[in-house]
Amino acid sequence: MDKSEKLALGLSGLLLVLFFGAIMYAAVAKDIDVPTCITDMDPFVTDTLFQTGPDTYELQMVARMWAFQPSTVRLPVGSTVDLYVTSQDIIHGFKVEQHNINLMAVPGAINYMRVTFNKPGEFMYACHEFCGAAHHTMAGRFIIEENDEVTEMIGGSL
Ligand code: CUA
Repeated sequence: MDKSEKLALGLSGLLLVLFFGAIMYAAVAKDIDVPTCITDMDPFVTDTLFQTGPDTYELQMVARMWAFQPSTVRLPVGSTVDLYVTSQDIIHGFKVEQHNINLMAVPGAINYMRVTFNKPGEFMYACHEFCGAAHHTMAGRFIIEENDEVTEMIGGSL
């Protein structure tokens, strides 16, 4: 083996030991961990829609390849919703038709918006950020009803 080849091989090995040592130092001595996946924690794993007042609700929306959780949200007309959006895997978008709602769903972060549904009807929400092969199927819907007894979500828990 050539002398310069041996040197390159030796340096490569030394770098590997150095990098591994740096990782071990960060993990053990500095107690640095990888970021937690927030979709594994409450409230994203349990009640993703709950009532916070007479006409107010909180909704935790999780985006993932290639669906929204919950996929259907049923609310009475006049509801004000505190909307929290995050992603389980990669970056998605969250846009609701006929409403000024346009959020990014970013893994490791929660984006917030408050919205009031003033008219009854069905309003589709869709992913507007290209996220892979089935991006075009990634959608759900709000069903806003006159009957204020109805509050329901479908496909709520992960
Ligand atoms: Cu999710 Cu496109």
